[in-house]
Amino acid sequence: MSYENLKLSNRDGILWVTVDRPSKLNALNVATMAELDRAVDEIENDDQIHAVVITGAGDKAFVAGADIAELNTLGPEEAKEFSLRGQRIFARIEGLSKPVVAAVNGYALGGGCELAMACHLRIATSNAVFGQPEVKLGLIPGYAGTQRLPRLIGKGRALEILLTGRNVSAEEAERIGLVNRVVEPVELTQAVTDLLGAILRNGPLAVAHCLEAVQYGLEMSFDDASLLEATLFGLCGASEEMAEGTAAFLERRKPQFRSE
Ligand code: COA
Repeated sequence: MSYENLKLSNRDGILWVTVDRPSKLNALNVATMAELDRAVDEIENDDQIHAVVITGAGDKAFVAGADIAELNTLGPEEAKEFSLRGQRIFARIEGLSKPVVAAVNGYALGGGCELAMACHLRIATSNAVFGQPEVKLGLIPGYAGTQRLPRLIGKGRALEILLTGRNVSAEEAERIGLVNRVVEPVELTQAVTDLLGAILRNGPLAVAHCLEAVQYGLEMSFDDASLLEATLFGLCGASEEMAEGTAAFLERRKPQFRSE
């Protein structure tokens, strides 16, 4: 598949998806969003992709937001449609059964912060800058930032960031739980590769079930979510993966989860 605004590269089963509009600080225009949607199709369907990294081209920005030039022309119906479409694409990223890490290498503002939050895990460089500055444009976040931010960092902290539109440094982002880890720019690729390596050593089905239990369970009642967990636990019991993992422990050897 060909892409104009994304670069895709599969390195040892990890698909690196680079948003590639550096002259616009990788702002997400409609064409780029459509390409992200197509990339998700590819990720879902390609057995050679075990995990995903989303990052930005250049050394200045992850993604500096939705494309403000496009926002400027939207009427009310179009704006709602714009928001729903973006929400759907980001929900598809979050709903993937393969782990997705945001490698945040600079500005992650507006839709960029929302994209990072739609990923399962986030590693940022020390010069990364987060924020939801939409209120400064007379807007609110439209790609579910009003929902993911409070779920990640709590309502009070989220409201302060949403209502002021202020920037959040990488150091603060790490302190409040907006990112998992901060590293120096030269360490980013290795840090992301190491993190995914630690995940990919585990049973792929178990990893997928963990993602599903957390992703869907968090929006359910505790009892319903616990039942979901038990059901997924039951599915593990039916898997070759659990047979191999437990046998390997008992035989004091490393489990062999993947055939390749
Ligand atoms: N949408 C469209 N274009 C954007 C953009 C966005 N969200 N963010 C940056 N750009 C473009 C700029 O218009 C500029 O294009 P030009 O060279 O053709 O004029 C280019 O990217 C470089 O940006 P510039 O503002 O010159 O860089 P800077 O280093 O001075 O400032 C930022 C960097 C991130 C602080 C600034 O670009 C910014 O505030 N961007 C908007 C952030 C935002 O509000 N995002 C939420 C949108 S809903």
